[in-house]
Amino acid sequence: MIVILNNKCNLNKDEFKAYLKDISEIKTKIDLVLCPNFLNISEFKSDKIILGSQNVSAQNSGAFTGEISANILKSYNVKYCLVGHSERRKYQQENYHEINQKIKKLLESNITPILCIGETKEERDSKKYKEVIKEQLLSAIKDLSLENQKKIIIAYEPVWSIGTGLIPTNNQIEEIFSYIKSYIMTNKILYGGSVNETNVDTLKKINLIDGYLLGTLSLQEKKLKLFLNKIENLTN
Ligand code: PGA
Repeated sequence: MIVILNNKCNLNKDEFKAYLKDISEIKTKIDLVLCPNFLNISEFKSDKIILGSQNVSAQNSGAFTGEISANILKSYNVKYCLVGHSERRKYQQENYHEINQKIKKLLESNITPILCIGETKEERDSKKYKEVIKEQLLSAIKDLSLENQKKIIIAYEPVWSIGTGLIPTNNQIEEIFSYIKSYIMTNKILYGGSVNETNVDTLKKINLIDGYLLGTLSLQEKKLKLFLNKIENLTN
């Protein structure tokens, strides 16, 4: 079981130091991957928590002002990196080609890509959601060997669920997870979108879930601790 903490654009330097101290004190056997903002990556120090990134450049190191390459992330000991988060697809117009390039750069640097996919409310309502997910998935793994495809973690995050308090039913999640598995030989599929210390009681009944991607809950240390206790009881 793996839990990814996506801090998004939060926590200034001092806040991050206090936060890191708090979450480092959580006793858990779950693999915790923390994805701070880029600047806080350089403030990260922990022998328990694993370091992740929220983004990477689609380019190699070089003349790309404002970019952070996979090679740079690697030098900071980053082990995982989110790719194609719906907020980046929406606000930075990240497209299929860039996402595919980012995944390739990460794999070249031995950083595990966590590919985020999921449909909008309109796509779900118009019953197009499976097509959308297939397109997101296949474009992201374009030209990758089977061996490399297996290294990618998939995070299913319906856009309508992120930060809204709405979550799909267990049947809806199971349907998508099986669908994803029919297209990619991934080792891990995570669920993300409004996961909290209460709805995890229902979510943890889904056997196919290999872990969770947390946004809001990643910043709420006490609730996070409760959440981790609940999923740890299941794994033990
Ligand atoms: P949320 O965000 O947990 O606040 O819904 C999840 C995500 O965006 O990764």
